[in-house]
Amino acid sequence: MLFDTHVHLNDDQFNDDLEEVIGRAKEAGVEHMVVVGFNRKTVKKALQLVDEYDFLYASVGWHPVDAIDMTEEDLKWLEEKARHPKVVAYGEIGLDYHWDKSPKDIQQKVFRKQIRLAKKLGLPLIIHNREATEDIVQILKEENAKEAGGIMHCFSGSAETAKECLALDFYISLGGPVTFKNAKKPKKVAVEVPLDRLLIETDCPYLAPHPYRGKRNEPAYVKLVAEQIAELKGISYEDVARATAENAKRLFGIQ
Ligand code: NI
Repeated sequence: MLFDTHVHLNDDQFNDDLEEVIGRAKEAGVEHMVVVGFNRKTVKKALQLVDEYDFLYASVGWHPVDAIDMTEEDLKWLEEKARHPKVVAYGEIGLDYHWDKSPKDIQQKVFRKQIRLAKKLGLPLIIHNREATEDIVQILKEENAKEAGGIMHCFSGSAETAKECLALDFYISLGGPVTFKNAKKPKKVAVEVPLDRLLIETDCPYLAPHPYRGKRNEPAYVKLVAEQIAELKGISYEDVARATAENAKRLFGIQ
């Protein structure tokens, strides 16, 4: 029983073989997945998928890379979409300082607006962070994001930063990079973050775990992430699978 908390099955890379991909996920023991949308196209597709498959849930939001394009009309549209009964989180939202399409100040404004919206909707946040840890933590504090709670998605920061996020009542979600040989930071985070605050994800089609690194990722591979965490923590695979699935259900309010 695995819960992949972050998939992009709404990505065009899955157009041709989605049934097979879902079949392999089921075989690997993946029970639930959250399909994440981050613009109009991917949100629409995520909602189509959750209507079609009972074991899929959705998260909707506007990606920081495209913050510059988000209008007030888009925000209203997102609010309407977020009221779909199978939307269990708001995101992915956050800051991405790697790409410079959207200036930092605009990203921050859009991030704050969406945190406020998620709080109004009563949804936990899914946070995307690239090279922006300090500003993200500060904004989460200033906006009292603790009230919403949420997930630090594909967490790549230090164990110290992880602790700051835990203090904000956020969960730490680990993905493929924890399986990479030289990934010292995620491995340390896997050891130090308590099991009741950890989640697992693939972020597929991106960030495939070892030995599929560089290839298209898919939800079945979340098993490799759970196995790696079990090895690092020195506990059983079953315990990691069960605990991370229970954490996800608790956070998303899924029975
Ligand atoms: Ni993602």
